[in-house]
Amino acid sequence: MKTLEEIIADCAKIATVPEGTWEADQERLRREEVRDELEATIPRDLRWARFNAPELAGRVVGGADPVARSQAAVRCQYVVWMGHAGTGKTSLATAALRAWSRDAKRAAMFGRAHHLGTARIQQRAGSGEAPIVARAIAAPLLLIDDLGAEAQTQNNAIADVIRDRFDEEKPLWFTTGLTANEVAARYDGGAVRRIFERAMVIQLVRPEPA
Ligand SMILES: Nc1ncnc2c1ncn2[C@@H]1O[C@H](COP(=O)(O)OP(=O)(O)OP(=O)(O)O)[C@@H](O)[C@H]1O
Ligand SMILES: [Mg+2]
Repeated sequence: MKTLEEIIADCAKIATVPEGTWEADQERLRREEVRDELEATIPRDLRWARFNAPELAGRVVGGADPVARSQAAVRCQYVVWMGHAGTGKTSLATAALRAWSRDAKRAAMFGRAHHLGTARIQQRAGSGEAPIVARAIAAPLLLIDDLGAEAQTQNNAIADVIRDRFDEEKPLWFTTGLTANEVAARYDGGAVRRIFERAMVIQLVRPEPA
């Protein structure tokens, strides 16, 4: 058992911990939690994708301009990266997602369209909403990557996710190889059309060969 002197000495040590340390630790832990929660949703081959990655401009068609637009898009509620395969849509959206989460101190979610599209098929009837769909509806910011690339099935959850998020004015970003009209035709036209009207659209276009 400690003597009274020892207890007082220990108290004195605790009392000399610099002010603000506890708060700073909590803040650091919270930042790490947010980062880990987002990172768990991002595919491994996109670990590199950040605005300060030297590779980024070289992997995006159009170089620095779409990178700058994507940095500005971090403050937008609705963003759509459009363009053909391999133009850099997902890389830019991922960099923006990381920047948003860091600034907002909240974990955004990277959702792959084909996972969201098939989630309900794998869910047993009567066991409630598929967890990934519930998370996609609730996330502070959702990126739906490669919208339109998933199989067209009757129980594709994406239209519901889009409508729910739009109704609640929750931020929603997409990458897609479809045109705006194709997206509106395929999903719930009303919500999608209104999202596109308000969205920052970043169109990635491969330069014509000289
Ligand atoms: N981990 C990586 N290592 C090397 N190159 C990469 C890596 N990730 C992406 N790239 C390259 O960066 C470029 C852009 O890729 P990105 O996936 O962002 O394009 P995308 O427009 O989303 O394509 P898609 O329509 O096929 O999804 C491509 O040339 C791709 O090969
Ligand atoms: Mg992609």
